[in-house]
Amino acid sequence: MDQKALQFLNLFSISLLTGYLTAEYVWPFIKRRLWNRSSIQRRLRHEEELSYGALHPDEISTGFEDIGGNEEAILRLRQLTDLLLAPPTNASRLLHAPSGLLLYGPPGCGKTMIARALAKSSGVRFLSLNLATIMDKWVGETEKYIEALFSLARKIAPVIIFVDEIDALTRKRGAGEREWSSGMKAQLLTFWDGLQSDRTEGVIILGATNRPQDIDEAFLRRMPVQIKIDLPGLEQRAAILRILLEDLDTPDVIDVDLIAEMATGCSGSDIHEMARRTVLNTTLSKTIPDTESFLTELDLLQSEKINCRRYI
Ligand SMILES: Nc1ncnc2c1ncn2[C@@H]1O[C@H](COP(=O)(O)OP(=O)(O)OP(=O)(O)O)[C@@H](O)[C@H]1O
Ligand SMILES: [Mg+2]
Repeated sequence: MDQKALQFLNLFSISLLTGYLTAEYVWPFIKRRLWNRSSIQRRLRHEEELSYGALHPDEISTGFEDIGGNEEAILRLRQLTDLLLAPPTNASRLLHAPSGLLLYGPPGCGKTMIARALAKSSGVRFLSLNLATIMDKWVGETEKYIEALFSLARKIAPVIIFVDEIDALTRKRGAGEREWSSGMKAQLLTFWDGLQSDRTEGVIILGATNRPQDIDEAFLRRMPVQIKIDLPGLEQRAAILRILLEDLDTPDVIDVDLIAEMATGCSGSDIHEMARRTVLNTTLSKTIPDTESFLTELDLLQSEKINCRRYI
């Protein structure tokens, strides 16, 4: 074999070896580095996105003074949050309050209001998790989003992570479930447990739902304190109405107790809607809102609701 052929063979085997080493070791290493970097960047991007929704307590306009009734539920929630946010030093581990709480009950009865007011009164941030945004993510992106949620919560603690309509996110797992959905739930559970195991202080997960029966057992177990926010009773309806009428000039011509009595079965949201319509209509007709005008709107609202249910 002449000199040139030998040189060519040498060069060829060196390039072959280099190619092999690059493909086997160098490229996977670079790929991993690039992936890690983009993964961190994605998490940070999600954190930033989520942080826009994190309200400082001073930015929250709802306070407990705006909520009619529910005194017991509010008292219990306040005691638990105080304990979670500032556990007594040297206290037994058993005294550690659970990091997850659940508010459940019919729609329009004040669950979201209470959650916001709780954050305001405790002086902690309120981080509301928007389910539509989560569901909207690409496969694989949802997990990153959840990771970002927990890492942001740790950074800005003390914070209440509020998950409205939590049943949509934590529905019972089962056969036929989409892979991304079960992956997302597993991820959520893992991060949730992380809070407990590393004793993260100042992060409370507060869920709210109309359908507690749809929530997976595993999630219910992580929200052992479950507080019912029910339809308001007579006194509570009157209290809600009084709060709503506070800034009207003519509260004396309105028989709040009678309206509250006639509003049996109405939620706080219905009472709000009745009052809103009454004030709107009387303003348009340049009349003064009185008991009669409230009762007329209440009648209309109730028959609308009956018709709407019949249609469904
Ligand atoms: N206890 C209450 N005191 C004063 N206003 C109330 C009360 N409950 C409900 N409302 C009125 O009803 C509206 C809706 O309440 P909220 O959104 O908190 O209900 P919700 O229980 O979270 O309903 P959903 O289950 O549909 O999310 C409030 O903005 C408020 O105007
Ligand atoms: Mg709500």
